[in-house]
Amino acid sequence: MGNFKSLLVVGAGQMGAGIAQVASQAGIDVKLNDLKEEYVNKGLGGIHTSLERAVNKLKIDKSYAESVLSRIRPSLTLEDAADVDLVIEAAVENLATKANIFQQLDQICSLDTVFASNTSSIPITQLAGCTNRPDKFIGMHFMNPVPVMKLVEVIDGLMTSNETREQIIQLSREMGKDPITVNDFPGFVSNRVLMPMINEAVYSVYEGVATVDAVDTIMKLGANHPMGPLALADLIGLDTCLAIMEVLYDGFGDSKYRPCPLLRKFVQAGRLGRKTGMGFYDY
Ligand code: CAA
Repeated sequence: MGNFKSLLVVGAGQMGAGIAQVASQAGIDVKLNDLKEEYVNKGLGGIHTSLERAVNKLKIDKSYAESVLSRIRPSLTLEDAADVDLVIEAAVENLATKANIFQQLDQICSLDTVFASNTSSIPITQLAGCTNRPDKFIGMHFMNPVPVMKLVEVIDGLMTSNETREQIIQLSREMGKDPITVNDFPGFVSNRVLMPMINEAVYSVYEGVATVDAVDTIMKLGANHPMGPLALADLIGLDTCLAIMEVLYDGFGDSKYRPCPLLRKFVQAGRLGRKTGMGFYDY
């Protein structure tokens, strides 16, 4: 058993649920927290489906799947973080929301508790600055779908201690992931490279260069991507894609990161991708 025996995950969306699953698979006791019971239940339902899929494919047996599920308990209050070793925050991609969560957690948790954020682009140093433990604060950026994707992008804040980084690298490995450490810059590496590609794919549709299907097929057949950029945007969530583009645009002050108006329009329409049943494709 590694450094962390108990974990609270804030946010039971697709990322939070996936993180809860892989943590439980590593033998850690997990609390899955969200604002409403229905959100937590939806997250637990997703974990159930993911494990069931693995059971049906004979990758794990039923009793193992049940033990993974039984280690994840629902939580509806951040006070439940009072007795955990680690908190991983996977709330919506919004600075004010995340800052508010970490300010509360900082009061609730002992100073030994390590805080990690699964933010896909908000500066880790800035989030760490909302707490009195910037040395015990780090970015732990998982990829979607979490149970499948091997990467954890580990982001060092300006004040992150070597000890915290080493603990999180070890934890990532225990979760079956390959951690790669990067420094704290807008979008880190993954989204600094990935998101402008997705944004350009949206521009290609917006400017009438090609259809959604054509753009995606070109990238699948032409660059060997497992799914096209627009299908991937639907998987990630168009609101998250827009939020990341805004962080890049604000953070670098460079017009090359301007979000495509069509992306903005889809988000305004509540057409957010798979999670709302409609994005560039219908689900
Ligand atoms: N949960 C658990 N397992 C899942 C899953 C899920 N949600 N989705 C797929 N899988 C498993 C399947 O069971 C299957 O397992 P086996 O190979 O053992 O049979 C495997 O993954 C492949 O799935 P499928 O055969 O159903 O479909 P596929 O081959 O088309 O793969 C995919 C689906 C893994 C999503 C693949 O299309 C892919 O890799 N897409 C790109 C994903 C990507 O780029 N993610 C990063 C997004 S960026 C991000 O997350 C960061 C950010 O900040 C925005």
